[in-house]
Amino acid sequence: MTKYVAKKPNASGDVDFTPEENETWNILIERQNKVIQNRACDEYLAGLKKLDLPVHRIPQCREISEVLKATTGWSVVPVDAIIPLEKFFSLLANCQFPAATFIRVRDDLDYLQEPDIFHEFFGHCPMLTEPAYADFVQWYGEQAVKTSKKVQAILGRLFWFTIEFGLVRTKAGLRIYGGGILSSYAETLYALDSKTPARCAFNLQNVLNTPYRYDEIQKIYFTLSDISELFTLKTNKIIELAEKIQDAPDNNFVIC
Ligand SMILES: [Fe+2]
Repeated sequence: MTKYVAKKPNASGDVDFTPEENETWNILIERQNKVIQNRACDEYLAGLKKLDLPVHRIPQCREISEVLKATTGWSVVPVDAIIPLEKFFSLLANCQFPAATFIRVRDDLDYLQEPDIFHEFFGHCPMLTEPAYADFVQWYGEQAVKTSKKVQAILGRLFWFTIEFGLVRTKAGLRIYGGGILSSYAETLYALDSKTPARCAFNLQNVLNTPYRYDEIQKIYFTLSDISELFTLKTNKIIELAEKIQDAPDNNFVIC
């Protein structure tokens, strides 16, 4: 359940945001643009440059889609605040990333459980300009949509610990590629600088066996040795491993 309601696009397909909502975007993007420097991975920063997001207003899905289509063939589509998991996977399988067309209220500036439009555009879309990454996300959606709800729940952990909260080792040091981190000011600092969370080398079996919480800051991050490690996961092994995991996931899904 969520207190947020996505705004419906007008007759031309755009969403009319209020001056206050545009100002919220401005506050979020101004501070995030600063904090991600030397913390986000190069692929993300290159994608962010390509998107050239406006700072004084919330961009429209068509503007983001124009860049994504030109780079990887993806697009973003407006959706409700919460969508069924099947729809989420189906969109990914079709190279469409869902963007809930609402932005957080000021009381939730630092943290909200629901993925809002700042999270989708700023957190996820830069990496979706990277062809190999976009291919992986499409492949993931294609696999997930075909399998059972139980296996989908297990696969949700892979999404969570990579696309949402993934870290990667680089020559310059540890960097962030997960959109859940990169759209959060506090977590961008915490994920790299805090001594509290565990940072484990990425291991597929461990990731699939690790439950997550979406309502609190992360206790564990998984670190890729290189961003290309993610792309090597495109094998049926993932589904086979997920099918063998017997525990009932205790988390629900807020993964887009
Ligand atoms: Fe997300």
